[in-house]
Amino acid sequence: MSAAPVSVATLAAMKARGERIASLTCYDASFARLLDAAGVDVMLVGDSLGMVLQGHETTVPVTMEHMVYHTASVARARGRALVVGDLPFLACATPERALDNAARLMQDGGAQVVKLEGGAPMLETVRRLSEQGIPVCAHLGLLPQSVNRIGGYRFQGRDHASAEAIRHDALAMQDAGASLLVLECVPAALAGEISRTLSIPVIGIGAGAACDGQVLVLYDMLGLNTRRPPSFSRDFLGECGSIGSAVRGYVEAVRSGAFPAEAETPY
Ligand code: KIV
Repeated sequence: MSAAPVSVATLAAMKARGERIASLTCYDASFARLLDAAGVDVMLVGDSLGMVLQGHETTVPVTMEHMVYHTASVARARGRALVVGDLPFLACATPERALDNAARLMQDGGAQVVKLEGGAPMLETVRRLSEQGIPVCAHLGLLPQSVNRIGGYRFQGRDHASAEAIRHDALAMQDAGASLLVLECVPAALAGEISRTLSIPVIGIGAGAACDGQVLVLYDMLGLNTRRPPSFSRDFLGECGSIGSAVRGYVEAVRSGAFPAEAETPY
């Protein structure tokens, strides 16, 4: 593993070499130092912080102020890993609003990539951000910001029509200029097919082992969660004994393809 700072170009080169990308969510400077030292490639300052740090039932209450604050905390401690900042609920309601919010996340928060949820309605926004030189991570499959419309945290893409829509949106996101794609809670076969088809790296969560990389919510993989953990997560702290070795264990398991195992691949 090179000590050079990770960029979107590094991730593209890793995909081309068939090296898997290890990513975790991160919300503060202390964990950022630890994750970076353990070899994590991408630290995602996810709006999941609304649930794991703030105790909300959903990510909907998370604001731009929260995201800038936590992204800046992580970015300050960054060594090698790439910092991706999440654009929260309605931050991309129009392309203009998305441009302003992406600028805040990068200029005030220090994000190097911005992530946004959504398929076809987000294409124009992805195009506009990319044209301005902003690296975008698209997010398809389960869209937690839309939980009130979906009616729960359900796996997506299990029937022909919705699988086809995700397949189509994934290609469209790449064509619109996205540099990365997160696929959340979709069947492993679909995620594998999309990862092979796209030239940009595809990072899966609850999407099987055939993606170009994996991401987990940090508090889930450390077992710091009194709720039932998602079926696709693993308690690496329970297995490894210390937080540092848990994160190193996760990075090794992603790189070797040992995570996720079949038992952690629901569909
Ligand atoms: O907010 C978040 O943490 C995310 C990951 C679960 C991909 O979007």
